[in-house]
Amino acid sequence: MRRTGAEPEVRRVADAEALARAAAEEIARAAARAVAERGRFTLALSGGDTPRLLYELLADDREPFRTRVPWERTHVFFTDERHVPPDHPDSNARLAKETLLDHVPVASVHRFRGESADAAAAADEYERDLRSFFGTAPRDPPPRLDLLLLGLGPDGHTASLFPGSDALGERRRLAAAPWVERLRTYRLTLTLPVLDRGREDLFIVSGAEKADALARTLAPEDAAAEPTPAARVRPRDGELVWIVDAAAARQLRG
Ligand code: 6PG
Repeated sequence: MRRTGAEPEVRRVADAEALARAAAEEIARAAARAVAERGRFTLALSGGDTPRLLYELLADDREPFRTRVPWERTHVFFTDERHVPPDHPDSNARLAKETLLDHVPVASVHRFRGESADAAAAADEYERDLRSFFGTAPRDPPPRLDLLLLGLGPDGHTASLFPGSDALGERRRLAAAPWVERLRTYRLTLTLPVLDRGREDLFIVSGAEKADALARTLAPEDAAAEPTPAARVRPRDGELVWIVDAAAARQLRG
């Protein structure tokens, strides 16, 4: 039963290993449904440390996901990227390539050109790539990806949408290149209109260092407090699923 537009569905798992497996199962389920309904699966990957175990599990030829996910029908995008070349240690594209995309035969990969000196131009180029792939014009609603994999930062950011960022207010553009003062760098990111059009937004959150951000996102004590960027992700006609491990969930009630 798909839960759309409603309250987030929160699934608690024991630890990081269980989280990777639960997320892999969710991706396999979404992929099978997308290919059955539309003949392809459009998947946006996020970066950071949390997804590494998941990507390695999906690529592991001793695991069922190598065959359960229709990789030949899968088109890979990114929720965000650092402003670095694709061979840089911080690159999300490099993480995905080394742990997953070099090991499974995906149909296409669409990465932000983090190597571009002009971050804003790289965001514009990504928007053109999205519009070209999905066949959507600027006047059309944003493209609908089947599953967008998202993480949560300790400050409540997701993708590269950070607290207080102007990019949070972007309602027209599909991609943006916000300056992130705390990191003293530009980032490249999908905007909320794209995240909110997802058929499924899947958050994966692991570790005690995320407990406060997770509680502020899913169960803010102060209703008047500014919602975290992650709390702003509310797919109107899609599933919102949070898979969280016990350490990250320790401040949640129940
Ligand atoms: C990135 C991610 C970012 C990430 C969170 C959590 O580019 O870093 O897309 O949004 O999901 O920062 O990162 P960790 O998984 O490393 O805690």
